[in-house]
Amino acid sequence: MSVKEIPLSDERRSHWLLLFWRSTVGKKVVMALTGAIGVGYVVAHMLGNLLVFEGPEKINTYAALLKSDSNLLWTARGILIVAVVLHIFAAYQLARLSQKSRPVGYKRWRAVGSDFASRTMRWTGLLLALFIVYHLLHLTTGTVHPDFVEADVHHNVVSGFRVWYVSAVYIVAMLMLALHLYHGVWSMCESLGVNYPKYNRLIRALATILTVIVAVGFISIPAAVLLRFIS
Ligand code: HEM
Repeated sequence: MSVKEIPLSDERRSHWLLLFWRSTVGKKVVMALTGAIGVGYVVAHMLGNLLVFEGPEKINTYAALLKSDSNLLWTARGILIVAVVLHIFAAYQLARLSQKSRPVGYKRWRAVGSDFASRTMRWTGLLLALFIVYHLLHLTTGTVHPDFVEADVHHNVVSGFRVWYVSAVYIVAMLMLALHLYHGVWSMCESLGVNYPKYNRLIRALATILTVIVAVGFISIPAAVLLRFIS
């Protein structure tokens, strides 16, 4: 007699998803997958922004190309917004769960098995969220950019970073991003089960290389504007 597969009804499938989301492991997997979407975006965005070194023509054409298909643009934006919201929501719930499991703090606390990046994840995450709001008002809508020109990305970046304290805000934010990314890549591998001791050194090395490339790539832009390499 053949064994027939019984298809899951929609109700049972959503119940399974809900149970998954409610579990600590489920929230960690959601954080890892949404984090991976964020890492992918940040790397692509950094590479695209480096076109500013090639002059106005290249980066403005690239920016126009990204906006040429509004369906594709809004699908990508939608995925990114959902990923960011889920990432923050899962982080908040995991923090609440860990607080509930230890309502009274340690009498004597020592950092065992954690480093500066892992202990500051909540703060670097919060500062990054605030930075993204400022960044959108600065270079996407131009609301807080005193000399914003629609569709002229090169001009907006260069005139924006000429103001030293704006560049300083970006550079500090990129250092926050570096710390967040370094520990994030590490936790992502752990949550997705890629944490065999023999690969730990390799994962740390990859996390370090990725972090340095992203941070140096982004920081090189305000630094080059301030040093008048780009004008
Ligand atoms: C030096 C660093 C950075 C520069 C020069 C830069 C540049 C830009 C520019 C010019 C835009 C507007 C593009 C346009 O409207 O055509 C933009 C949009 C954006 N940036 Fe950045 N960016 C930087 C860092 C970051 C970082 C670190 C993140 C995320 C953690 C980020 C996330 C975004 C997002 C989400 C948008 C909106 C994209 C959209 O309109 O769909 N940026 N950036």
